[in-house]
Amino acid sequence: HAPPLLELENIKFNTDEWTNLPVHIASALPRKLHLQPSHPLAITRTLIESQFPKPIYKSYNQLSPIVSVHQNFDSLGFPIDHPGRSRTDTYYVNKQTVLRTHTSAHQADTFRAAETDGFLISADVYRRDAIDRSHYPVFHQMEGARMWSRSVCGGDVVAAIYKDLENLPKHNMVIEDPNPTIHAERNPLQPEHSAEEAQAIAAHLKRSLENVVVEIFGHAKKAAVAAGEAKEEDEPLRVRWIEAYFPFTSPSWELEVFWQGNWLELLGCGVVRQHLPTNAGVPDKIGWAFGVGLERVAMLLFGIIDIRLFWSQDARFLSQFSEGKITRFVPFSKHPPCFKDIAFWLGSSSSAAGGGAVFYENDLMEAVRGAAGDLVEDVRLVDEFIHPKTGRRSLCFRINYRSLERTLTNEEINKLQEQVGAAVVEKLGVELR
Ligand code: PHE
Repeated sequence: HAPPLLELENIKFNTDEWTNLPVHIASALPRKLHLQPSHPLAITRTLIESQFPKPIYKSYNQLSPIVSVHQNFDSLGFPIDHPGRSRTDTYYVNKQTVLRTHTSAHQADTFRAAETDGFLISADVYRRDAIDRSHYPVFHQMEGARMWSRSVCGGDVVAAIYKDLENLPKHNMVIEDPNPTIHAERNPLQPEHSAEEAQAIAAHLKRSLENVVVEIFGHAKKAAVAAGEAKEEDEPLRVRWIEAYFPFTSPSWELEVFWQGNWLELLGCGVVRQHLPTNAGVPDKIGWAFGVGLERVAMLLFGIIDIRLFWSQDARFLSQFSEGKITRFVPFSKHPPCFKDIAFWLGSSSSAAGGGAVFYENDLMEAVRGAAGDLVEDVRLVDEFIHPKTGRRSLCFRINYRSLERTLTNEEINKLQEQVGAAVVEKLGVELR
C-alpha cells in the first residue's frame, strides 16, 4: 500500500522514508507572523526594509516555505555531504522536498526573475535544533541582495558601484574591521572577479548593513532609555566585521554588535558566488547578499527575552505592539519554572551493549516539543554514564517546564513528563531508567 499523503498549504505531497515533518511543526506554516502588521517580527521587518530604497530593492514576503532540495542546497553549491542536509537538521516533506532552512533558498529564482537590481525576501525558516530561550525550530530571516551589470553604460562597473556607495547615507559609528577584504586562504577572491570588483562590492555591502545597524540600535537604545533600562550617555555602539564562510558567497563576513555586554552575531553576508547569477541566466551580474535573523533583532528592539513569546496568541502579549512602533515589552508576569529529569539507556533493552541506533540530540528535542509543546523552556544534558559491566550508555536530561502565560500545576507537569517519557521511548527506542 502507498505511503500516506501529506497536505501542506492545500497541496498534497507524497511521503517516503525521508519524511520527518511532525504535525506540531507543520501547524506553524499558516501563522505567517512576519505578515501580521502589529506583530514585533513584522515591525522589525518593515524597519529593516525602510533602509533599502524602492524601486532599487523589491520585497518578496509571500514565497512558499516548501522548497526543493535543489533550491535549498544544490543551487547554492552546498556539497552533497554537508551536515545541513541531514534529516537530523532539516525537515523533509519527502526525499526531494524540504521546509526551507534559510531564505537563501530563493536566491537563484530571484536572480533568474531579475525584476530589480536589489531584493529583500522575508520568510519563516525551519531547522531542527536545541530547545532554549533563543532557539525555536521555526524562525524568520530576511535575505537581501544587490546586483550590478558588468555591461553598464560606459562599461565601468566598479565606478558604477562606487557611485552608488557615494549616495548611501554616512554614519559615524565605530567599526572594527581588522582583516583585509580579500585573503587568499581565509576569504578568497573568486576566479571570476577582479580584486577591484570584489573590493567595490564589499564596500557597498558593508556600508549598507552598517546603516541598518545604526538605525536599529538607535531605536533599541531609545526604547531602552525610555524604559529606564539604559542611559543616554551609555557607551556608544560598537560593531565588528568577522571573516566567515558560506558555500554561496566569497569573500564572506559576519557582522557582530556589542550590546548589553555581549558580542552578538547579527547576520551573514558576502560577495555572491558567480555560479548563482550564471546558472540563473544573468551571467553578467555581480553583487552581494546578506541574511539576517529577525527574531535576534526583534528580541533586542522590544526586550523580548524568550523566543517562544513570538508564537503567543495571548492578548497580553499581542496587544502591547502596534504597527510602526518600537516599545519595550512588559512581561505580564513571571511564572515559576519546574525542573524534571529524564534518564534513559541508549539502545533497546534487547540490544546488549546499547549500540545499534545512534542517538541524536535533535531527535530528543523534537520528541519533547511534540509531547509538551511551548510549555518547555529548555532542555539540557546534565549527566552521562557508561555502565562498567554492560558498557551501555545512559543519558540524563533536565527539562525545564514553564508556561509564559500561567502557573502550571504539579499535576499538569507530572502528566506532561509522563507524555514526554512515552514519546521519547516511542520515537527514540530508548529505555527509561
Ligand atoms: N543563509 C545564511 C544563513 O542562514 C546567511 C547568508 C545569507 C549568508 C546570504 C550569506 C549571504 O546562515
